[in-house]
Amino acid sequence: MGRRKILIVMAAGSGTRMGASVPKQFLPLGGEMILKRTIEIFLSAVPDIRIITVLPRDYLEFWKNSCLEGSFYYPQTLVSGGITRFHSVKNALRKVPDGAVVAIHDGVRPLISKELIMNMFTQMDSGRCHALIPVLPAIDALRLLEEKVGKLCDTGLQVNRSQVFRCQTPQMFLSEDIKAAYSLPFDTSFTDDASVAYANKVPLSYCDGERLNFKITSPEDLALAEMIISSRQR
Ligand code: C5P
Repeated sequence: MGRRKILIVMAAGSGTRMGASVPKQFLPLGGEMILKRTIEIFLSAVPDIRIITVLPRDYLEFWKNSCLEGSFYYPQTLVSGGITRFHSVKNALRKVPDGAVVAIHDGVRPLISKELIMNMFTQMDSGRCHALIPVLPAIDALRLLEEKVGKLCDTGLQVNRSQVFRCQTPQMFLSEDIKAAYSLPFDTSFTDDASVAYANKVPLSYCDGERLNFKITSPEDLALAEMIISSRQR
């Protein structure tokens, strides 16, 4: 049984890098909205999961109407986002009770597998970890550079590739831990939920992420995601 499972799905970004007329989470992918696909994969993994959807304030009505039009009736708590992702998560955590496991996931990572979601919740239910972060090793060679007058230059510093990992979402936490961590004042070093939890001394555990669980950020990412979806449908 374990703790109540809650998904906070982050979709309050403006998505300016995509250059589309709506934020990227609302774009179609294989004929369905990216955000809907992301929520549906969690529902297929954990049918009774509670969903908190974080949206740009101006898109709350748009999302409600899209759900109605797409016959997507799963109950969700809708929350308005904040100025940064940190502020958006903080708004959502106000709706989260103690005693739950919270998965915080980017709405623009729809290609995660059901298996990764289930395995991560199972690990959290085992009581052996306080927080679980999916990571991928760095595969390319790495150089530490700095930009000087518009030009990339060497810093002379070395990076040990075996120590560099890319963090994905969902990042899972005990609700009381992550709520306490998000009471810290905002800091620009908070790049994800793991960095906020770590700053508040929550012990982090790690598991293997998935290459296909990438964040759709650019038109190239969207084209790649389309190819993956159509190959899965064949
Ligand atoms: O901007 P970035 O790609 O890092 O955003 C990651 C996720 O966080 C996206 O799903 C985006 O919608 C969400 N986000 C948010 N509130 C913000 C900024 C980003 O919910 N203020």
